[in-house]
Amino acid sequence: MSPSTPVLLHLLLLVSLASAGHFYGGTMSFTPKGRNADGTFKVDFRYKNTHDWCDYEGWYCSTGNCGSSVKDVRGTIDSSSRGRSGYNNQWCETETVETKDIPSDKPFQLLQNSCCWIPTVNGLLSWSLETQVDLGTRSDTGEPNRSPVTAILPFIRVPQNCQRSYNLMAFDPDGDRVRCRYGLVRPECDRCDQPSGFYLDQDSCSLQYGYTSTSGVYGFELVVEDFPNQHITLSYTDGSTASPWPTTTNTWARWPTTASPLPTTTNTWARWPTTTTPWSSTTSTTESLYSSTAPLSKLPLHFSLLVDSIVPSCDEGMYLPRFVQPTPHNGEHLHAEVNKELEFRVKAEATHSTVNDVIVSGPLNITNHMTTQGEFVIRWTPIRDNLGEYFPICFITEGLSGSSVYQSEMRCVVVEVGRRKVKAKVVCDETKMTVEVEKSSVTGIHEDHLRLNDPSNSACDLQRFSNNTHIIGVIPLNACGTQIEEDDDNLIFKNEITTFDNPNDIITRHHQVEIQFYCQYAKRGNVSLGFTAHRDSITVVEKGFGTFTYQFEFYQTSQFTNMVDPRDYPLDVVVKQMLYMDIEAVSTVNNTELFVESCRAAPYDNPNYHPTYPIIENGCIVDETVQIFSPRHQRHFQFGMEAFKFIGMHDQVYISCSVILCEAGNPNTRCAQGCVNSTSPQPAGHHHRKREAAMQTAKHHISQGPLRLRRSSESSVTNMNMGLMVGCIVAAVAMLCGVMLYKDKTSGVKYQPLTTFET
Ligand SMILES: *[C@@H]1O[C@H](CO)[C@@H](O)[C@H](O)[C@H]1NC(C)=O
Ligand SMILES: *[C@@H]1O[C@H](CO)[C@@H](O)[C@H](O)[C@H]1NC(C)=O
Ligand SMILES: *[C@@H]1O[C@H](CO)[C@@H](O)[C@H](O)[C@H]1NC(C)=O
Ligand SMILES: *[C@@H]1O[C@H](CO)[C@@H](O)[C@H](O)[C@H]1NC(C)=O
Ligand SMILES: *[C@@H]1O[C@H](CO)[C@@H](O)[C@H](O)[C@H]1NC(C)=O
Repeated sequence: MSPSTPVLLHLLLLVSLASAGHFYGGTMSFTPKGRNADGTFKVDFRYKNTHDWCDYEGWYCSTGNCGSSVKDVRGTIDSSSRGRSGYNNQWCETETVETKDIPSDKPFQLLQNSCCWIPTVNGLLSWSLETQVDLGTRSDTGEPNRSPVTAILPFIRVPQNCQRSYNLMAFDPDGDRVRCRYGLVRPECDRCDQPSGFYLDQDSCSLQYGYTSTSGVYGFELVVEDFPNQHITLSYTDGSTASPWPTTTNTWARWPTTASPLPTTTNTWARWPTTTTPWSSTTSTTESLYSSTAPLSKLPLHFSLLVDSIVPSCDEGMYLPRFVQPTPHNGEHLHAEVNKELEFRVKAEATHSTVNDVIVSGPLNITNHMTTQGEFVIRWTPIRDNLGEYFPICFITEGLSGSSVYQSEMRCVVVEVGRRKVKAKVVCDETKMTVEVEKSSVTGIHEDHLRLNDPSNSACDLQRFSNNTHIIGVIPLNACGTQIEEDDDNLIFKNEITTFDNPNDIITRHHQVEIQFYCQYAKRGNVSLGFTAHRDSITVVEKGFGTFTYQFEFYQTSQFTNMVDPRDYPLDVVVKQMLYMDIEAVSTVNNTELFVESCRAAPYDNPNYHPTYPIIENGCIVDETVQIFSPRHQRHFQFGMEAFKFIGMHDQVYISCSVILCEAGNPNTRCAQGCVNSTSPQPAGHHHRKREAAMQTAKHHISQGPLRLRRSSESSVTNMNMGLMVGCIVAAVAMLCGVMLYKDKTSGVKYQPLTTFET
């Protein structure tokens, strides 16, 4: 919108925006976290909301005592620019994790309602979400009930002519039966519509799309409930009890297992202090085993589904992306551990569209990255609070063909956060990975029957460094079958320890132990040359970190034979004198290459100083005096340029470069792209903020300086003994994952910024 747009137009826009609505959907779940010393009950609530922009909505207490909030953490889970058309095409899903202290274990209800949904074919206007919580102690578990684990992507789309089934995540940590149904009465829904063209199988929680003649967005106001498998009672601290069982005798006749006699209490509805008619009165539309049974809890599951234009073929793998290995199956359970990064990969293929995005709904702080091999890596690190909890993660990949967006099926997994099992650690340095696994933490491991990906090299023998207590592997980054992988931010080196039956076999039929490990190195770094005192290179190596070091040096001549002696600092140069600079990655990893993305000059050694003078930008030479010299190898860069001074009071110049190390020979890396004209439009498609941010330069900056420039260009020869500055620390991360019958991963992510500014 141009700056001259009249204010009135803005106002009109705002008005129409408000009336058009902006809500895509929302969900909520909760987990009791035990009792506080004062007897109150601690409960974590997680609620997700999706709007046209990133927004947070509060819940209020509609009945009972919902206690008070003691903590509230919020953030964005995922966003996309492939939302509904009409407003800004965006959607943004946020999550709020709220911890409450609740004085009583009696039931209560939370409500969230407001106006309005995005425009829907089925005419939804206001939205209303309801959650019912009952913290009474269950007679079977001795604990308060935990809510079902459910999730959905906030905005899903299906071509009008394609049938599709969405298997909604409906897992229950207590082993209860979970039912998904349409909301029937306010306030669990507002319009309470059941769109035609869709069929909801309540017991399997599967939503099927058949066909509808009207394309457009349909809003769904579903409700997810859990029911015990057997007769249980709930007891409360005030001495009362309740029983979530059928209230009439004719309903339990339909119950499949009639073994245990059912109670005939008449007033279980009293558990929900509500005046609305219970949904049992509407069994005509929800004929189900559970229709007359009070659930243990009730959660909202509201979302938008776009019935999109017709696609030439509904076959998966053509326009609609089809999931392939190693994508987890729907409903799969993944193990995670506190403070250890969980990682899984999603991959999809399509012949008639370009699969270039994944949309994800999962716990706060979940991330996704696309590798240069076209896989999506989804990562999440549980915190201590998450121990013992279950988290749903749902994902869909999107393919683009022209301006049409096609979605794959939806898959959801359940992540269980457990205790650490295999005790191991990985130390990463510039040439190798060192893995140590505590033997006592891995049962059934036979040291002489373990191997790496490629054991042919004797350096890859795991027995060489192992001792009585630890299996120790020292694995070069480019040997023993180590594989290299790359995404926007990182270079990742992977290998694994597996068991084998016979030393001469290359196949095994018993794959008992599989310990995958990898070293991850941020591939971007800044090197900075200043022009005063020299300092030795600084390298931080910490447990679980790998570092790449880059050297940045001045040379006397274009022959690059004599490096400027650091002891000659500080030094002066004359304007227009040629400066020769040399950047080299210290890494000896063969299959990597160095790329200098940008070099800038500034009068101060402060990465936030603006404006700076661009020398190289996006890999393109900007300063016309720059000369590039042929490098000695792939991880080397040499260039020269004429010295200059900044206009004004500044005689000092600092040069900082941002460099990237990529997998060599892969056409999909930033290094392979070379000069990318910054004025050319960004590739259309995925607009996830985090991914764009990943395209920026990285975060660590160390430097020394400054270089002093002579004011007069007449002055005679100056000592061309310019400074050297070495270094750049690229924080890196090492991770390990241990697998024993299950697979899971370890990580310790930590960055160590270096602050060595000095003038
Ligand atoms: C998300 O990350 C932030 C900072 O990294 C952390 O403070 C917060 O506790 C995390 N939240 C959750 C729910 O994991
Ligand atoms: C085995 O090696 C590990 C790791 O280097 C070390 O911590 C441990 O003390 C060693 N154990 C023995 C018995 O030497
Ligand atoms: C690395 O490259 C050099 C030269 O091309 C070669 O001699 C060496 O064997 C390579 N090392 C590995 C581990 O591939
Ligand atoms: C880069 O953009 C500039 C300005 O738009 C244009 O003059 C130049 O030709 C472009 N260079 C390349 C390599 O596309
Ligand atoms: C490099 O410096 C730029 C600012 O000049 C900064 O934005 C970026 O985060 C830095 N990257 C690293 C890896 O330090």
